[in-house]
Amino acid sequence: MPIRPWFPTLIYDAPLLPRPDAAFTRSLMDDCRKIRAHDRAGARWCAQNYPAGYTSYGSMTNLHRTFSTFMDLEKQIRRHVMRFVRRLDMDLGQGKLTMTDCWVNMMSRFAVHSLHLHPLSVISGTYYLSTPPGSSRIRFEDPRLDKFMGAPPKRTGVRDENRQQVAYDVEAGRVILFESWLRHEVAAQRGRAERVSISFNYDWR
Ligand code: NI
Repeated sequence: MPIRPWFPTLIYDAPLLPRPDAAFTRSLMDDCRKIRAHDRAGARWCAQNYPAGYTSYGSMTNLHRTFSTFMDLEKQIRRHVMRFVRRLDMDLGQGKLTMTDCWVNMMSRFAVHSLHLHPLSVISGTYYLSTPPGSSRIRFEDPRLDKFMGAPPKRTGVRDENRQQVAYDVEAGRVILFESWLRHEVAAQRGRAERVSISFNYDWR
């Protein structure tokens, strides 16, 4: 082949556990509801910044150090992060990847997560706890999009590796990982029931 692709952008998507664990899911869900019920500062933050949804992003981002269910979740997520990091050929040296932030997102109808990235982190991702019908997908954008300048658009039937965006269906029990610089967004929630997810960052220190 005279032409080879270089500098790929990798996205990881896998079931958190080999077999679904209904009891674990239920305890996590109970904790998410408790967190929302008690988080006054979060309610104020969301009224300003997250209409139609609740997130603890503005108030409680240390859930993995506070709740035993989230500690267990971190242990499971870590296995996936380490697998992802090996595939990325990262040399961690004497450093360690550590979960620094972990927060919950509960999106009611019309809640939106606009385009963003996760500064100061290495690997970020989301674990999906409840994804009722109409749950919006997570969309990732080619990190070079702002460099294309005068380039023509891609034709229909574009090869996967030449696409400029990709959206993943979200499914309860799955975990999606990406490098923290990768911009992503969640369009408005369409379903009537809540879409619940837990997001996190890992950094290298
Ligand atoms: Ni995000």
